Amino acid sequence: MDKLIIRGGNRLSGTIPISGAKNSALTLIPCALLTEEPLTLRNLPRLADIDGFQHLMNQFGVTTAVQGSRPEDFGRVMTLEAPRITSNVAPYDLVRKMRASILVLGPLLARTGEATVSLPGGCAIGNRPIDLHLKVLEAFGAEIELAAGYVKAIAPEGGLPGGEYDFPVVSVGATENALMAAVLAKGTSKLFNAAREPEIVDLCKLLVAMGAEIEGIGSSDLAIHGVKRLHGATYRVMADRIEAGSYACAAAITGGDVLLEGARADEMGATLHALRNIGIDVTEEKTGVRVAANGPLKPANLTTAPYPGLATDMQAQLMSLLTVADGTSVLTETIFENRFMHVPELSRMGADISVSGRTAIVKGVKQLTGAAVMATDLRASMSLAIAALAAEGQSEIRRIYHLDRGYERLEEKLQLVGADIERVGDD
Ligand code: EPZ
Repeated sequence: MDKLIIRGGNRLSGTIPISGAKNSALTLIPCALLTEEPLTLRNLPRLADIDGFQHLMNQFGVTTAVQGSRPEDFGRVMTLEAPRITSNVAPYDLVRKMRASILVLGPLLARTGEATVSLPGGCAIGNRPIDLHLKVLEAFGAEIELAAGYVKAIAPEGGLPGGEYDFPVVSVGATENALMAAVLAKGTSKLFNAAREPEIVDLCKLLVAMGAEIEGIGSSDLAIHGVKRLHGATYRVMADRIEAGSYACAAAITGGDVLLEGARADEMGATLHALRNIGIDVTEEKTGVRVAANGPLKPANLTTAPYPGLATDMQAQLMSLLTVADGTSVLTETIFENRFMHVPELSRMGADISVSGRTAIVKGVKQLTGAAVMATDLRASMSLAIAALAAEGQSEIRRIYHLDRGYERLEEKLQLVGADIERVGDD
């Protein structure tokens, strides 16, 4: 297993290229199941989770071809083709490694009339139930069976009729499964209180490019008019707004000035608003978003919420930044029940944080100190890297396979802007 060695204190300056969005790619890839024609996705990030999903798609008989790209390039192009589906079962040993596999349930059901997917189980940040995924598919006319750790969804003879569902809780994944199931349904389906994240808009745009008919894109009320078939498409994955926000925090905590190339300010509203509240200069430029720290960091009170609220995926990274602000900040996590795993590790670097339930009180300290720390989940790992960039001395971050799931060549991108960081084998 590798680890990262970071020597803090360098002021980051320059340009970081932002990759394609992991959380969009993971719902665009299964769309290949919805058509016999080729689907080409551009700007796919090179991430462990994308490799995992490619392998899962091969299980269903989907051919996947990655078009040549130079090793120094970021991102890649993948063409997926599913002229016929040879299996509609997603096995436990693949699903357990990547929860997002549950996103094959809707498209497999829509294409073949049946889908069997291992229950994904929980993860470090929460137990991650999938009840809403199942309820919305039932509302669309599917029969759901749970047995032996698997969920089986069956469409009636002739295909899913479609239906209506009002989400009691906003769910990104359940909205995505619902959209991919409804596009080939017999009738019209309606979703209320659907997720509105930019990744949902990216999915809707791809489905429309494949011939789907969707109304209300970008709003929480969606209407999907089922069509007989979808055709192939070539589509560019949106930029990763969470990767961009993460590097914005890295630039800010080091007093740096960094251009996040390819980032879209209109998709990062709440994060950029939080950064401005903390005293960071944020300017929208032609090629991306520039983040510059001029002066002391101000404390802030932040609460995560479904889009357009502050992304829960940005909470850990912003907390790192606030550990060295001039004053006390309050962060409230409303989406996941256990998303403060970074707190004990940040405390080992000298941060002053106390947690009570879903609220963390962060008292700013003058300086963090480098330490050997352990990554626990994707965004918590990034928060440790951000802290280490500003900490005095050297930090070692272990179990960085968590990072490799969501950040394409992190150390190379940070080296581009002057970070003293290297990846070494961990004995
Ligand atoms: C997606 O997860 C993202 N993952 C997560 O990013 C992100 O944190 C989350 O959306 C919220 O924005 C991908 O897109 C691959 P949800 P998802 O369904 O779809 C509850 C990262 O770091 N819920 O919106 O699983 C759930 O427990 C990852 O990149 C149910 O109760 O999130 C949570 O409290 C982490 N029943 C809330 O809804 C369900 O059936 C939001 O979950 C589904 C969800």
